[in-house]
Parts: sequence; structure tokens; C-alpha cells
Amino acid sequence: MSENPKPLTHVGIIMDGNGRWAKNRNLERSQGHQAGVKKAIEIVKHASHRKIQFLTLYAFSSENWSRPETEVSTLMKLLQEFLFSELPTFIEHQVRLVTIGDTQKLPLFARGALHHVIEKTKNHTGLTLVLALSYGGRDEIKRALGKLLEQAQKGDVNSKTLTEEHITNALDTSFCPDPELVIRTSGEFRTSNFLLWQCAYSEYAVTETLWPDFTPQEFDQAIDSFHKRDRRFGGV
Ligand code: FPP
Repeated sequence: MSENPKPLTHVGIIMDGNGRWAKNRNLERSQGHQAGVKKAIEIVKHASHRKIQFLTLYAFSSENWSRPETEVSTLMKLLQEFLFSELPTFIEHQVRLVTIGDTQKLPLFARGALHHVIEKTKNHTGLTLVLALSYGGRDEIKRALGKLLEQAQKGDVNSKTLTEEHITNALDTSFCPDPELVIRTSGEFRTSNFLLWQCAYSEYAVTETLWPDFTPQEFDQAIDSFHKRDRRFGGV
């Protein structure tokens, strides 16, 4: 792009293909996830450098609990390692960490690491890294409806006064704008329960590249292609 467009406020990434990346190399799936974490670190630094305000990484879905116990436990340990090893990076780049999803379901050691890093980074002013953990769009909407029902019981809202804003504010993502762009790696054309309400008008960029092979250049290409699109939000 010749001109310098405004940085995007929110990019979401569905990081897919760690398992296939490992299989192609005769490696264990866990080694694919390890490579996936390394890639996440590289992309966080790059997004921070590009002055993106919010980057949401789909790190563990509510459906991922059904994977074999050993894989789930590997992913939880990798999450803990990632949090402790990258805290200095978050400090250096002023990255603020937050989570979305039903994180109460995570094992205590992972919740402890999250709490520690969230507290240490809460006043940072750079990129907000949103880790979607034990996250599913339908589960999030269900939990939001629960909150709204409680508000209704208290008389704060009813079927006539309910607005879209009430729903937006009851979601886990109430602190951030909707993503303008969602990138999905590994060539699948699915939303996979990612930010269902928030992606109503998001643009999608799908690449065949498996997540561990994804590059900052491809991230930039996705943003460039976003800027060339004509977004009409249902208008003409
Ligand atoms: C998809 O690969 C990826 C996941 C299930 C999420 C795991 C993501 C990472 C390990 C990277 C980032 C993690 C952190 C903590 C920032 P897959 O196993 O579904 O791949 P496949 O479809 O090829 O089998």
C-alpha cells in the first residue's frame, strides 16, 4: 500500500494447523503446539509494532476440552510456560494481557499464571493481547444471556428496553471493539465458534499456511487486502 492507513483496532486470529504441521514432519502433535506458541509470540510482537490495539488469539476453544487428556494437559503447560517466559516481552513492548472465555475451567496452575501476568501488565498502554481460553462463542452468548436474565429480574432491563448494546456489554469482549479482520490459517473456511456476535461485519482472510509457518509478512498482506475491501455494513 502506498498510503499509510490507520492501524486496525482489532484483529482476531484462528490459529489452526499445529497438528498437521507436526504430522508433515513426523513429529508429535505437542511439538506442533510448541511451534504454534513460538509463532504466537512472533505475531504478538509484530502486531504490537504495527500499533494494532487489540489482538485476539483463539488459543483454546470450549470444544478443545474433548481432545485426549494428554494433549489438553500439554496445551495447559505450554500456556503456563508462555505466560512466564513472555512476561519480560510484555513489559518491554507494553503489552496488556486479558482473557475471554470460561477460564474458571482451566487448571489452577494455569489460572495462577494468568492472574499473575494479567496483574503485572494491567497498566500497560500498548497492544492488548486477548487470549481466548476455554472460549466458545455460543457459550459466551449463553453466559451473557444469564447476566441479562439477572438484570431483568432486578428490573434493570425488559423485553421492550433491551438493545443490542445490552448484549454487547454482557459479552466477555465488552472492553473492546468488534474485530475488523479475522485471519484463519490452514485453509479451513469455518468460524469454529469464534466471536460469533462480534464478527457480524468482520472481514475474513483465510490462508492455506499452517499456523507454525505463518509469517508477519502474511499478517501484513491480510491487513493490506482488508484495506482494499469495500465495507458497506449492509448499506449500498
Ligand atoms: C490448532 O491446531 C490450534 C489449537 C488447538 C490451539 C493451540 C494454539 C497454540 C498452541 C498456539 C498459541 C498458544 C498460546 C498459549 C498463545 P490443531 O491442533 O487443531 O491443528 P490440526 O487441525 O492441524 O490438527
